[in-house]
Amino acid sequence: MTLLYEGKAKQLFMTDDDKVLRLVYKNDATAFNGEKHDVLQGKGELNNAISVLFFEVLEAEGVQTHFIKKISDTEQLVRPTRIIPIEVVVRNITAGSLARRLGWEEGKSLPEPIVEWYYKDDALGDPLVNDDHIAALGVAKTEELEEMRMRALHVNKILLDLCHKANLLLVDFKLEFGVLEDGTLLLADEVSPDTCRFWDAKTKEKLDKDIYRYGLGSLQAGYENILSRIGGVVHD
Ligand code: C5P
Repeated sequence: MTLLYEGKAKQLFMTDDDKVLRLVYKNDATAFNGEKHDVLQGKGELNNAISVLFFEVLEAEGVQTHFIKKISDTEQLVRPTRIIPIEVVVRNITAGSLARRLGWEEGKSLPEPIVEWYYKDDALGDPLVNDDHIAALGVAKTEELEEMRMRALHVNKILLDLCHKANLLLVDFKLEFGVLEDGTLLLADEVSPDTCRFWDAKTKEKLDKDIYRYGLGSLQAGYENILSRIGGVVHD
C-alpha cells in the first residue's frame, strides 16, 4: 500500500477506499526535534491503544475527529484531511517550554487554561506564533483559529474529567486539526502520552514522554500505567 506520509512516530498509508487512510504507530521515540532517537519495543501498541481510547471518548462527547476504528494493535483507520500546520497547545499546569520561557516554576496550576499556537515547521523548530503571524503566514483563517481554540478548550474539559477519574493530572497537551474537502474541521493526528503531559495526581510522578526526554525511567511502564488507569487493557 502507498505510504503517504512518514513522521517521527507514525506512518500514514492509502487504502482501496479514498475516504479512508491507515495510520500505523511505530516504536520510535524521538525528542528535542529528532536529536534524541530510540526504538522502544511496545511503544506503538501502547500509543495506539491510548489514542483510540481518547478518540472514542471524545467522539462520544460530540468532538468531530478523523478517527474511524482500530484495526490492529498498532493500526487504526482515519479519514483523510488537509492538516492545518498549526499545533494547538493547551496548558493547565506550568511545565516544559512555558515554564522555561517565562521563568516559572514547574507544577503551578494556571488560573485559566492557556492556549498557544506553534507553527509546524521542523527546520524552524516549531516556533510559537500569534494570530497575526498566522494571518501573515496565510495557513489558517481567523474563523478557523477561533474554532480550533473553542474545540481545544472543549477537548481539555473532556480530558480533564477523564484524567480526574483516573487520578491523573492533565498538565498540557498538543492537538492538530485537519480540514475535509467540504471545509469541515476535524481533530486529527493523535492524543497520547507522546503529545500530552500526564502526572500522577498524588505523587506528581511523570508518566508521559518526559520520561524519555529526560531519562527518568521506563517509558513503557509510564504508558502502561496511563492505559490501565483510563480503562484500557495492558498486554504482557
Ligand atoms: O514542550 P512544550 O512544553 O511546549 O510542550 C507542550 C505540550 O505539547 C506537551 O504535552 C508536549 O508533549 C506537546 N508537544 C507535542 N509536539 C510538539 C511540541 C509539544 O506533542 N512538537
